[in-house]
Amino acid sequence: MNIRDSLYHTESTTRLSELTLLYQFSNTMLSTIRLNKLTHLILTAITTPSSNLFERSILFLRNEKSNVLQGMLAVTRQLSEGLQIIGGHDALGSRWEISDDIISRQRSAEFCLQVRLTRIEIDDSCPLIHQIVSDRGLCRSNDILCQNCPTCHSIKPLCGGEFAAVPLVARDSTIGMLVVDNPETTCEISIDSLQFLQLFANQAGMAIENSMLYSRIEDAHLNLRDARERLLHGERLGAIGEMAASLAHELKNPLITIGGFAGRLLKSLPSETREHQYADTIVSEVSRLEKMLAEILAFSRKPTICFSSCDLEEIIQDCLTSCVTMFEDHTIRTSFSPEAGVWTVSGDAHQLKQVFLNLILNSCDAMPEGGELVLTLKKEPLEGKSVIVSVEDTGGGIPKEMTAQIFNPFFTTKHHGTGLGLAIVNRIILNHFGSIETHNTDHGAVFTITLPLAGYTGT
Ligand SMILES: Nc1ncnc2c1ncn2[C@@H]1O[C@H](COP(=O)(O)OP(=O)(O)O)[C@@H](O)[C@H]1O
Ligand SMILES: [Mg+2]
Repeated sequence: MNIRDSLYHTESTTRLSELTLLYQFSNTMLSTIRLNKLTHLILTAITTPSSNLFERSILFLRNEKSNVLQGMLAVTRQLSEGLQIIGGHDALGSRWEISDDIISRQRSAEFCLQVRLTRIEIDDSCPLIHQIVSDRGLCRSNDILCQNCPTCHSIKPLCGGEFAAVPLVARDSTIGMLVVDNPETTCEISIDSLQFLQLFANQAGMAIENSMLYSRIEDAHLNLRDARERLLHGERLGAIGEMAASLAHELKNPLITIGGFAGRLLKSLPSETREHQYADTIVSEVSRLEKMLAEILAFSRKPTICFSSCDLEEIIQDCLTSCVTMFEDHTIRTSFSPEAGVWTVSGDAHQLKQVFLNLILNSCDAMPEGGELVLTLKKEPLEGKSVIVSVEDTGGGIPKEMTAQIFNPFFTTKHHGTGLGLAIVNRIILNHFGSIETHNTDHGAVFTITLPLAGYTGT
């Protein structure tokens, strides 16, 4: 073979291997949808020893919102050997594959971590950025005029010597940039390999864009599925609620009759007899059922509010007074310390009383062995337009995994609970233009209610 033939042969071999790479890339794109894997495959393919193109490759993706090129991934030749070729060496049918182990090793390599911390401002006055983002053309570090602007400064520490950059273009806009260099051998980056890189980058840009679109569609799909499930859940709850309400309505009258007659029996039976004990059990169970029915009916009733001026301090004091015997029975110490001031809110006194009674009852339920219940009343510190009421107990608090559910109707952890107390509380507070939150302390739960003071309501 003479020199001309030999040169021709080398040239053909190079072109063939480049074409093979491009084919393999197209096949890879068809089978790789996940962005993460795709980017590893792209960078590994151009740094792998068999392609013999570059020693390192770095990927930046454009963030439109913050107007920066964000470092996403870097692959060095040492970590690019794990590229597998699936489907033999038939260029038309083969594709690349990479193991999860190599992906995680590439991702946790020190150079990659350094790249991921790099953000390059998209400043059009920098020739490099102008060339990549606006002109959508490739450039070599030696050809660009400036190497000292802040933009070039961000790339310099990554690529000590000569480097080249190509834009990743999709739908007529630059979505990112590929940077390559040869730090080990310091071989010059040839025009040939750069032209190939440009071809490769055009495909890579489209593949990355498709993959990003796919993950956006997948996110939207997941959101839709969540929304649909929430809707179905809501519908199911609505149906259960309706059934519960009609049942409660049907049960109310006979229950009153049973309770009334059981009470009469109780009075007429001599105490200390077994019959007296039975009647006593009927009376207390009926009264428990009546309370439960009242909660179900309160929840199912259409909320109508009779707004008037209510003194919140007086309402809370009333609630505490009506629970005194319960506090004594449970050895619960209580304290109520309102800050000095006028605590008038525009609302429905009866419903607001229901709110605090429910919270107090829950706290008592949480402290069967006794404890401490502390209520406070203070002004919201920033604008002073709202009042903040807190109800704090020492009942051990609410398990973290349940906090999201406690305001859902029918959620209860109690043997005889209806799970409607907090749902009613929440609805009343929302109807009063307020909000309710809860958190745990070292000893128990705190419920914090914020209500607009009279004059600041949205009514
Ligand atoms: N102060 C509290 N301490 C601990 N858990 C609470 C407290 N208040 C409410 N919970 C939890 O929230 C659940 C729902 O309360 P609620 O809606 O009032 O229904 P119920 O009292 O019928 O169970 C309770 O079953 C309980 O698990
Ligand atoms: Mg309750």
